[in-house]
Amino acid sequence: MNADLIRVHPRKSAAKPIQEAIPMNRRNYLALMSAAAGALATGAKLELVSAQDAGTPTTSTVEDRARRMKWWHEAKFGMFIHWGLYSTLGRHEWVMENEGIPAKEYEQYADRFKPKPNFAQDWARLAKRAGMKYMVMTSKHHEGFCNFDSKLTNYCATKKAPGRDLVREYVEAARAEGLRFGFYYSLMDWHHPDGARCLKDEAARRRFVDYIHGQVRELMTNYGKVDILWYDVPWPLDAKGWESVEMNTMVRKLQPDIIINNRSKIPEDFDTPEQRIEASANRPWESCMTLNDSWGYHISDRNWKSPTTVIRNLVTCARDGGNYLLNIGPTEDGSIPPESVQVLTTVGDWMSRHGDTIRLSDNCQPRRGNYVTYTRKGNTLYAHVYYWPGETVVIANLLNKVSSVTMHGSNAPVKFEQDDFRIRLTGLPKHAPELLTTFALECDGEPRQSHESKRAEKPRDVTA
Ligand code: GLC
Repeated sequence: MNADLIRVHPRKSAAKPIQEAIPMNRRNYLALMSAAAGALATGAKLELVSAQDAGTPTTSTVEDRARRMKWWHEAKFGMFIHWGLYSTLGRHEWVMENEGIPAKEYEQYADRFKPKPNFAQDWARLAKRAGMKYMVMTSKHHEGFCNFDSKLTNYCATKKAPGRDLVREYVEAARAEGLRFGFYYSLMDWHHPDGARCLKDEAARRRFVDYIHGQVRELMTNYGKVDILWYDVPWPLDAKGWESVEMNTMVRKLQPDIIINNRSKIPEDFDTPEQRIEASANRPWESCMTLNDSWGYHISDRNWKSPTTVIRNLVTCARDGGNYLLNIGPTEDGSIPPESVQVLTTVGDWMSRHGDTIRLSDNCQPRRGNYVTYTRKGNTLYAHVYYWPGETVVIANLLNKVSSVTMHGSNAPVKFEQDDFRIRLTGLPKHAPELLTTFALECDGEPRQSHESKRAEKPRDVTA
């Protein structure tokens, strides 16, 4: 966080600011140099600034980011979809690499990939049913096969067994359900002949980067308005090698409202903690997670998360100001594994009653409890009970006075007693009324909890 920053200030007259601030590590220095060249060409001026702006994007401004990302912050919950040739093998999306399958042998799966009609409708309907507001689909994973129509390769859905543009079908299905959508796109490519040798061979790098930029251009041009560009694995190049600043500047020109993740080796709009929930200090973030242990379809991976776990994760993300992108790995014909349908439908039932406590929430400081977790809107604290304790629910060490408690959803008033150290919600049913039962506590200010100060204050007038 103490890294120096260089800020490029575009001239007022410049059509579009291309650069705000970049944390100055070696990686970004290289990217910066190529950005700076472009900026200087338009008359922008370079200047050292302090480190506190480390959270700013790279090819946009913070102000513009806030505008572009408003819907995303309010959406909170999205569907990730990993689907490609690996789905026909059913042994995880890394099967090509992890089983050492030669590219030529792997290619044959492109002749077997035969999605059923209307697969994407089912995805979009399930996403909506689950309370999700957006979807992100693999347009090309590391295997290199393109689910979209590309003029730059024959290794794509329109020219192989599917004979259709699968990305287009996905886009149309998302739009039909009123969902926002994005494209996952892997920079790493195990099929392209230059995908690895680009590291050591400049002519190969040139060809490969032109290919990648060309495909990104196709994705940004051929499908109307796209909401998210979700890059993945930038192996083997750095930001300079990928020409990431130029690539994303092009993306923003073609899609002025788009949001771009942080996996093209420059920060851009949001961070992407994977398989874990970890809030970024000053930047938007989205935790992406599998529903079992695999992104792509894995026939014998039965390690499904329960609906309660999914909801708790979603609550945790919302509590800390982030989004939750939860994955499905459809089978080779595009069907969603029934276990995923079941979990997401149950989550959707809960979201239909309590979704507002997630989507409209502000960052929430209270977090401790053995069976309860929280979100907040203004002065209202939502307590989500995931392990029902019985007739009394207790929250400790709140710093606020509570004026009323209701069951969220039914608005039924709940009896409570509060002293300096705990608030006890009483007269509750023996068994959990819901999968996670949610209470709304009206507080006299922004809800806060402090265990240490209360521990210090707590009387110890014991008798034994
Ligand atoms: C990793 C994996 C990949 C998966 C992605 C999702 O980068 O390589 O298989 O698509 O994470 O975040």
